[in-house]
Amino acid sequence: MRSMLHGECSVLLMRLALATFAFGVAAKPAKPHIIFHVIDDFGWDDPGFRNHQIHTPALDMFHQQGITLDQYYVQPSCSPSRATFMSGRMPLHTGINDWIPNKAYGLPLDETTLPQLLGSAGYKCHAVGKWHLGFFRTEYTPTFRGFESFYGFYEGSEDYFKHTKDGGFDLHREAQPRCGPGCTTLAWEDTDQYSTNLFADEALRIIDRHNTSEPLFLYQAWQGVHDPRQVPQHYVEPYVHRIPDLKRREFAGMVSAVDEGIGNITRKLQEKGMLADAVVIVTTDNGGPIVDCAGIGASNLPLRGGKCSLWEGGTRGTSLLFAPGYVERSFTWQGLMHGADWLPTLVEGVADERIWATKPLDGMNVWPQLIGNRSSPRQELYYGLADSQVGHHGPALREGPWKLIVGTGGGSGDHPHWWRNFSSSLGLSEDHRPRLFNVQEDPSERCEVSDQEERVRSMLSKIHGYQATAVPQRQGDPRCPPFAPLRSPQGPYLGPWCDDAQQEVVV
Ligand SMILES: *[C@@H]1O[C@H](CO)[C@@H](O)[C@H](O)[C@H]1NC(C)=O
Ligand SMILES: *[C@@H]1O[C@H](CO)[C@@H](O)[C@H](O)[C@H]1NC(C)=O
Ligand SMILES: *[C@@H]1O[C@H](CO)[C@@H](O)[C@H](O)[C@H]1NC(C)=O
Ligand SMILES: *[C@@H]1O[C@H](CO)[C@@H](O)[C@H](O)[C@H]1NC(C)=O
Repeated sequence: MRSMLHGECSVLLMRLALATFAFGVAAKPAKPHIIFHVIDDFGWDDPGFRNHQIHTPALDMFHQQGITLDQYYVQPSCSPSRATFMSGRMPLHTGINDWIPNKAYGLPLDETTLPQLLGSAGYKCHAVGKWHLGFFRTEYTPTFRGFESFYGFYEGSEDYFKHTKDGGFDLHREAQPRCGPGCTTLAWEDTDQYSTNLFADEALRIIDRHNTSEPLFLYQAWQGVHDPRQVPQHYVEPYVHRIPDLKRREFAGMVSAVDEGIGNITRKLQEKGMLADAVVIVTTDNGGPIVDCAGIGASNLPLRGGKCSLWEGGTRGTSLLFAPGYVERSFTWQGLMHGADWLPTLVEGVADERIWATKPLDGMNVWPQLIGNRSSPRQELYYGLADSQVGHHGPALREGPWKLIVGTGGGSGDHPHWWRNFSSSLGLSEDHRPRLFNVQEDPSERCEVSDQEERVRSMLSKIHGYQATAVPQRQGDPRCPPFAPLRSPQGPYLGPWCDDAQQEVVV
C-alpha cells in the first residue's frame, strides 16, 4: 500500500511539472539533462502497464505521459548491449558478442564512448551501478572511459547485500575522472544494504550536488532485476495475495524496488527544477531470462523465448522515453530502433552536437522521428552475432516486418509444446537453418514462413554481407595472468588484476 501511495504522489508531482512547462515558464535549454536508466534482465511483460500484477507507478507514469517504444531491440545478453549503448556500434564490430566473463578483455579502448562525446559537449557524466564492460586493467574502468564518477560494481550477478562475486567484494567508489590506484575505494561500509537503495541514493546525491546550469548525463545501471533473486521483504508484501508463484512474487518485489528508485530520482529532478529540461530514458539490456541464463521470475509474454535467445523475447526490449519538454502527448512509437542508436540519438539529436573521432557507427540518430512519432530511418537491423559459435544461436536480421534467424534461435528449454508439435509435424530439426517470421503480424513467432524462398535468399545474403565486416570475438590479453580476486586488509575484492603485466610490457 505504501508504495502505491508513493506512486500516486509522484504522478501528481509530475503533472505539476508538466503544467509548469505547458505555461512556458521553463525555457528549453540547448542541452537537456539526460538520465539513462538500464534495468537489468527486465522482461517485456514485467512493467505494470503491460502486466497489471506488478506495481510500477514510475514506469506507468512515463508510459502515460511519454513515449513507449514498441519495436526496440537489444542484444540477447548483458555486456553486448551495454557495449552498444556506450559505443553506438554492434557486437560484430566491437567483438563483444557475449557477456564478459572474468577474462582479460573489455570494451576496446579505441571505441569512443557516449560519455566521452557528451563530456566534450559540456555534460557532467556520472555512472552508477553495473559496468560489466571489463576491468582487467584500470584503464577499462568507467572513470577512464568518460565518466567523472562511478559508484557500482564491475562484474555481474553480485549478491545484492554482500556485494560479492567470484570470491571478492565488488562495490567501488570512484569520485573523480581517471580514478585509479590511490583514488578508487571499496565501499565496505555499504555491506548488508540493498543495492537498489544504494544506487538510488547515489543518484540523488549526484543530482543534489549538480550545478543545474550545466547539463547532466547520468548513466543509472540498476542491478535489479538480475539474478540472484534477493529483495527486502517489505517490497514483496504487497504481492502476497496477488501473485501465487513465489518466484514471480519475489521478482515483482525486485521490480517494485527499482521502480521506486526511478520514482525517487524523477522526484529529485523535479525538486531541483531539472525535470522540464530532462530526457529520461528507460531500457532493458536484454529480454527477461525465462529458462536459460538465470531465470528468476521474469516474463516476456506474449513474445517467444527469453534472454540468451534471438527470439523476440530475448531481443525485443522494454523501453520508454519521458521528456516533458519535448513530448506533449503520449504515444507508442512503432519505429524500428536498436540500442546502438542511442549514442547518435543522444549526441546528435538531444545534445545537438557533432560526433567526433568514432569508428564508423552502426547506430542511427532517430531523435526527430522518435519524438515526432514518424517512421524510423532504420528499416533494417542485424542483431545477431558476429559468430554463430558464440552463444545465442544466430545470427538474425530484421528487415521491415520480416525476421530471419539462421539457427535454432536458442533457448532449447523454452520451446512451448505447440512449437515442438509444429516442428515435428513439418519434419524440421532444430539444426542450423534459416527461419523466417513476419514479426509484425506474428510477434509471438508462431508461424514460420520460411517457404518464401526469394525473401530468405535475399535476407541471407544481407546477413553474409554483415558478417563479412565482423571483427573476431575478443579472447583476452595473453600477457595477463588468469583472473583472481585481489587482496586487501578487509578481504578479497574484484579489481584490475592485470595492471602489472601491462607495466612490464610498457617497460
Ligand atoms: C525512495 O524514497 C523513499 C523516501 O525517502 C525511501 O523510503 C525509499 O527507500 C527510496 N527507495 C529506494 C529504492 O531507494
Ligand atoms: C555553475 O555553472 C555555471 C556555468 O558553467 C558557472 O558559471 C557557475 O559558476 C557554476 N556555479 C557554481 C556554484 O559552481
Ligand atoms: C503515433 O503514430 C501512430 C502511427 O504510427 C498513430 O496511430 C498514433 O495515433 C500517433 N499518436 C500520436 C499521439 O501522434
Ligand atoms: C502436442 O502433441 C502431444 C503428443 O503428440 C499432444 O498430447 C499435445 O496435446 C499436443 N499439444 C498441442 C498444444 O497441440
